[in-house]
Amino acid sequence: MDKIRIRGGLRLKGTINISGAKNAALPLMAASLLSDEPLVLGNIPHLADITTLAQLLVNHGATVETNGHDDGGNTGGRELRLHAARITSTTAPYDIVRKMRASVLVLGPLVARMGEAKVSLPGGCAIGARPIDLHLKGLENLGARIVLEDGYVHASAPKGLRGNEVRFPFVSVGATENLMMAAVLAQGTTVLDNAAREPEIMDLADCLNAMGAKVSGAGSSRIEIQGVARLHGAQHRVMSDRIEAGTYAAAAAVTGGEIDLIGARLEHMGAIAVALAESGSHFEVIPDGLRATRHVRGIQPVDITTQPYPGFPTDMQAQMMALLALANGASTVTEAIFENRFMHVPELARMGARISLQGSTAIIRGVESLHGAPVMATDLRASVSLVLAALAAKGETDIGRVYHLDRGYERLVEKLAPCGADIERLPA
Ligand code: EPZ
Repeated sequence: MDKIRIRGGLRLKGTINISGAKNAALPLMAASLLSDEPLVLGNIPHLADITTLAQLLVNHGATVETNGHDDGGNTGGRELRLHAARITSTTAPYDIVRKMRASVLVLGPLVARMGEAKVSLPGGCAIGARPIDLHLKGLENLGARIVLEDGYVHASAPKGLRGNEVRFPFVSVGATENLMMAAVLAQGTTVLDNAAREPEIMDLADCLNAMGAKVSGAGSSRIEIQGVARLHGAQHRVMSDRIEAGTYAAAAAVTGGEIDLIGARLEHMGAIAVALAESGSHFEVIPDGLRATRHVRGIQPVDITTQPYPGFPTDMQAQMMALLALANGASTVTEAIFENRFMHVPELARMGARISLQGSTAIIRGVESLHGAPVMATDLRASVSLVLAALAAKGETDIGRVYHLDRGYERLVEKLAPCGADIERLPA
């Protein structure tokens, strides 16, 4: 397994092209199953998760072509042409779904288009059990019959889905996306109450509407979908990745540097920008993105609780912890979304961070400096928090199991090296 070697202590200064958002691209790709006409998606990032979902869509009978010239993601990412002219299988097999739980997003589109689906239960992952009960209850609200058998969800709606009110007991990004896609072809109108408000939800609604759907209210906690008979093809450009942008803004902050984040949008950064500014970073809107800087002396402590959008995103929690490990004082980070998302803590401690855990709250006592050490990545965002810590640490850090990084960070080494990072990827 490859590892990444970083010699830290260097101030980063340069420009990084922010890629298309993984968490927007995945539901958008699943939406291609809703139409028998082609969906062309631009600005698709080169990521393992995208490849996994493309394999799953091909398994259902879609063709997936990479049209855009493969410019290595330097500018604008790839263009995918997804065409599910016919669905030849409504089964999403365990060996694909277990690799990536977002595969469960084919459930809604399959039931909507075909009246049935057999999708493996995704199983848990490193950060938690991650059940899909809200997805299933929502589909039942729309008239689907759900049977769990042999580790699979068997969903059926032979007469099609019927519009209805779906009230989520708590916010779920995936359940909101699955139900929105299921409802676009239902008979009648569906209302999703207490829906997730993430920008990725709005991106999906924009794409569905471009395909002929009638979705309104995306971005608010009440989304209304008027069912239509069919969807046609469309072209859509995936929004830029606000979590990647926040991650590289944290890289500028942790090294006391300055990075121009091309493609980043301040209106999507929200609570990320607020928290980074509180810790001493500065954001400036520049013609095609954002400039993230931390010149002021020292990193200030910040108290954070992760929340659904527009609150502070759980996907930035580990990155902030790496930054706050070097703050002038004590910070608290409370993880209120997932039950087990502190696996980066023991690895950061190996580098000298002083972090104690009390239930879902981490208390981070800032230290003068971190030191390099061999560490292990455990999940996508934990692995990138180790990269951030290594960029600031004195000495050399080897990060193992970097396949976790490849799931969500396109060409990380190639993006950081030109900004002055001493970073290389070492084949196993
Ligand atoms: C999406 O996951 C993202 N993944 C996650 O990003 C992100 O952390 C999460 O939303 C929260 O923002 C994609 O978009 C592909 P949820 P999702 O449903 O949809 C519980 C990353 O690093 N829950 O909003 O799975 C669940 O266990 C990944 O890019 C139920 O109990 O998240 C969690 O505790 C990690 N039952 C909470 O709700 C359900 O039916 C929020 O989960 C659904 C969720």
